[in-house]
Amino acid sequence: NSVVGVGQSPEAIRNREGQLSPFEWYAEMRREAPVHFDEQREMWDVFRYEDVKHVLKDHDAFTANRAFGADESAGSGDDMPMLQTMITTDPPEHDRLRGFVNDRFQPGAVREYQPQVEEMTKNLLNDLPDEGTFDFVDEFSIPLPVIVIAELLGIPDDRRDQFREWSNALVARPEDDTSEEIQRVQREQERAQKEMGRYFATLLAERQGGNGDDLITLAANTEALNRGERIGFCMLLLLAGNITTTNLLTNAIWAFEAHGVTDAVRTGEVDRQLAIEEVLRYRSPIQSLKRIATKDVELNNQQVQAGDVVTLWLGAANRDPEIFDAPETFRPERHPNRHIAFGTGVHFCLGAHLARMEADIALNYLLEHFERLDADLSELQPLNFLHGLESLPCEVRRTA
Ligand code: HEM
Repeated sequence: NSVVGVGQSPEAIRNREGQLSPFEWYAEMRREAPVHFDEQREMWDVFRYEDVKHVLKDHDAFTANRAFGADESAGSGDDMPMLQTMITTDPPEHDRLRGFVNDRFQPGAVREYQPQVEEMTKNLLNDLPDEGTFDFVDEFSIPLPVIVIAELLGIPDDRRDQFREWSNALVARPEDDTSEEIQRVQREQERAQKEMGRYFATLLAERQGGNGDDLITLAANTEALNRGERIGFCMLLLLAGNITTTNLLTNAIWAFEAHGVTDAVRTGEVDRQLAIEEVLRYRSPIQSLKRIATKDVELNNQQVQAGDVVTLWLGAANRDPEIFDAPETFRPERHPNRHIAFGTGVHFCLGAHLARMEADIALNYLLEHFERLDADLSELQPLNFLHGLESLPCEVRRTA
């Protein structure tokens, strides 16, 4: 998907084991070939913390614009206009596309949503069985972020189900790797994207001149954006904010259970917020980002040329022994924790504070709601979209 930027995985981690645990490969590459050109994918891979950070901060030499160097006449037909959003735009244009909404995602503004997020979390928990087994991914970690974004954007209640269907279609994965199946999923994604784009366009038009405090009203009335950019903004929030947060929630339970700290987090013996930061470091939902070199540059003794694509392995940077003590160990009390799971530089995640608050509330209420929660880690299937799991069966008993 172009907005969240997943492409073909490197050969070394294309299988199930590699998807679940790319960390040995990262360690080897950090040591042996920290800036490496992959002939097969025809792009660079960057593994060390300082190098990844350097590229993300140097937005002059490394553009976030995916179309950089491409034929400008290609793909710009009116039938499928490319939506321009902040995440693929460099400064100074970037500042215009982000500036109008930046305040709304600062810690103080995000805290105002706290009661609503708590309410939504409780409702979701009340729909779960009091005792027995359910799939944590399908029943909790997928729906919660969608409901939260729908609330922020101001999607009317009677369209929430439709909204959820679109959100799911946008991140649907092929069931197998036959070309029919891949095409089917692509067609579904295009359909959902079109329908949703039209729906956002209608809401944006309706809310022009309105005074609601939802994000669609904000986008509809800012002079900073044109019509296409307003739609692009709404789509971006959805794509950038959902599956990432889903994976943070899933990976938290996965890591807590794998390391036997679920009860310690429940009782407060382990600080929940520090534990969430450690999940972000240890199993970063976004393992890699891409940039394109705008000029010939040297990077850790390698000659990168203008037009070269560079993959930045956040997941490898977050386990760099130069920065982290015992980087391969999950230490829920780790502090300080300078992980870059939310990126760095001008594109630092707009939703970082929201995601942190959401995870904090979700895990707090979840563990309070269930006095017993046992995840079945015996047959893990990686989600082939970012770093997470396809499902996570949990056996639970509600707190008496
Ligand atoms: C950017 C990660 C949640 C909205 C980013 C970037 C990362 C990231 C790594 C940098 C992309 C780049 O440099 O190319 C995450 C993770 C999340 C999360 C791990 C959850 C755990 C959210 C949420 C929202 C959101 C909840 C929205 C409500 C955005 C936006 C950008 C962004 C709009 C682009 C910022 C810009 O280009 O200036 N995110 N994100 N993210 N994220 Fe998040």
